Amino acid sequence: MEYHVPVLLNEVLDLLSVKLGNIYIDGTLGNGGHTLEILKKGGEVYGIDSDQNNLDLATSRIVDSGYAVHFHPIKGNFTDLKQIISKNISSPIHGILLDLGLSSNQQKASGRGFSFNDEQSLDMRLDPATQELTAEKIINTYSFEQLFNIFSKIAQEKLSKPLAQKIITKRKSSPIKDGATLAKIIRDAYLAKGIRTKIDPSTKIFMALRIVVNQEFENLKQFLDSTLHTPSLNNATVCIISFHSGEDRIVKQFIREHHPSLITSHSSKAITATHKETAVNPLSRSAVLRSYRIN
Ligand SMILES: C[S@@+](CC[C@H](N)C(=O)[O-])C[C@H]1O[C@@H](n2cnc3c(N)ncnc32)[C@H](O)[C@@H]1O
Repeated sequence: MEYHVPVLLNEVLDLLSVKLGNIYIDGTLGNGGHTLEILKKGGEVYGIDSDQNNLDLATSRIVDSGYAVHFHPIKGNFTDLKQIISKNISSPIHGILLDLGLSSNQQKASGRGFSFNDEQSLDMRLDPATQELTAEKIINTYSFEQLFNIFSKIAQEKLSKPLAQKIITKRKSSPIKDGATLAKIIRDAYLAKGIRTKIDPSTKIFMALRIVVNQEFENLKQFLDSTLHTPSLNNATVCIISFHSGEDRIVKQFIREHHPSLITSHSSKAITATHKETAVNPLSRSAVLRSYRIN
């Protein structure tokens, strides 16, 4: 099994300054890449994920690696940070990590709808048990204005208008039910305009749909606010890795608004991956890490 390669791993471990017996929350457990390294350094980790597949995958990985004693998997959403802490953790917490977005296995999986090659699904929900809205519903029922807004504001897609029009025309003849069909519509629109791109032209639209389906901006705002009002987080370090300029803007504005009254910002500059890391892990290219300590 090829696991998701954790991004900015050394930088996160330095900021969290992991010590034996200290307690950490990994709010986006994924394949457990960051968590495993925290456990190896002697930390105790509560790992949250809203995707049951990833929670199970990370848990067996950690069990197989022999580090399960100090690991506590929790199925949930990091927006419920306060409730998760009050239910599970009674001691002071030293650090929290959010590594936003998707893990590589989610991105590639067939039947989840996140991939341009997925011929089975256009779902994109991280937790189908608790979420209703799917990308399929957005693509097949949203109005031109609604699609245009998502494409232009979140995807910052230059072909937002023709793409929204094309999708509405196509879905009239037959519903768009999978990632591969949607990706073809986007690629064809680029080809028709003679535009060539280095990365797949569907990338931005797929990311924007996933952000809307999973309410990623709202969740992040809610999480950041909840870090301010949870007593066991006093003095904890919070690290957030984002991959979309909209997410990074939310983190940056939050830090600006609450430093130095409620939090202490570690640095006004964001941390990005080194050339060495981007050369071996292309995922890290767009990663931006910001951190703060709760006063
Ligand atoms: C980029 S991956 C994390 C990878 C992980 N750091 C590793 O090294 O394997 C992001 C993970 O966060 C989860 N996730 C995204 N939004 C979430 C939320 N609001 N609450 C809980 N988990 C979430 C996704 O299901 C995914 O497994």
